[in-house]
Amino acid sequence: MHVNELETPSVLIDLDIMTRNIEAMQERCDGLGLAFRPHIKTHKIPDIARMQLAAGAVGIACQKVSEAEIFAADGFEDIQIPYNIIGEKKTARLMDLAIYNRMSVSADSQTTVDGLSAAAKMAGVPLRVLVELESEQHRAGAPVERAVALAEKIAADENLHFAGLLIYPSDASIRPALQETISHIDALGIGVEVVSGGGTGAALHAHEVPELTELRVGTYVFNDMTTVWRGWNVPENCAMTVRTTVVSRPADERAILDSGSKTLSSDVYEGRYGYIVEYPDAKIYRLNEEHGYVDLTACERRPQVGEIVHVIPVHTCVVTNLHERLFGVRDGEIEVEWAVAARGKVW
Ligand SMILES: Cc1ncc(COP(=O)(O)O)c(C=O)c1O
Repeated sequence: MHVNELETPSVLIDLDIMTRNIEAMQERCDGLGLAFRPHIKTHKIPDIARMQLAAGAVGIACQKVSEAEIFAADGFEDIQIPYNIIGEKKTARLMDLAIYNRMSVSADSQTTVDGLSAAAKMAGVPLRVLVELESEQHRAGAPVERAVALAEKIAADENLHFAGLLIYPSDASIRPALQETISHIDALGIGVEVVSGGGTGAALHAHEVPELTELRVGTYVFNDMTTVWRGWNVPENCAMTVRTTVVSRPADERAILDSGSKTLSSDVYEGRYGYIVEYPDAKIYRLNEEHGYVDLTACERRPQVGEIVHVIPVHTCVVTNLHERLFGVRDGEIEVEWAVAARGKVW
């Protein structure tokens, strides 16, 4: 089917750009001697993860147990969840996966470690646990002293296996804390098998953190305007666009798109909700659920009602999560239609 026959709004994936992105990141990791573990949060589609594995990835990362369940059921065996899994029901489901698969998770507190240990004991299978080290993002993650104490506890726990350290994002600024943590753990006679870093931006600086053994990257597969506006990318590397119709021109300087927050998500970057490929000077400045407001003041040429335009979203991962299907396009033809298998999985 030709792409012109598609309803709008629809999410398109340029297959040539996506393939190039997959190859480039794998080459980068291979060149640095790093294992590559794509994070599936960006596409949530097993077929795309299979392309990433075929290019050389060692396994995948998922953010939720329910995402891991979808991918494990589809044949993926090496799955890392870089998240504190808390609560008996979730840890029991995690251990159901760990019986048949190489699962690993992160922890940054004794509470998380205790819950994982109890679940692993119940299942009778040891679980691989990485300690998350706090980064300059100050999200989850333990400071150095606690990270070392947790590593010691995990290593001494007969139900758990201390698998190493995990960081997000793994910018070069983390290096002093990382080195300190590794040297303390070494001094305890415990091996740090894996140092897993992550982030599309951090991947550009991975060579500045030679302690890393693995990279977890997600957004790179499609890229988005956040990666462009932060200077990590160019629009030509963005595989995802939302094909959308101009449904109204209420004023000379304003257009309305049939893509609102239900389609593009509410993620915003410095007052912008996306970038219109055909009208680079236009500004998507507000979204309602089904309306995208576009300021055309800076545009010499302006779109007509009924015209189709393509929007590169601000944050690709959340756009994927909003849609039932993505359309893979090459030379104007839809080559593949993917169901977003792990969409909406929050448990
Ligand atoms: C823990 C963790 N690892 C890896 C990633 C992938 O980062 P990016 O999408 O920037 O490549 C994320 C993204 O949110 C994350 O939260």
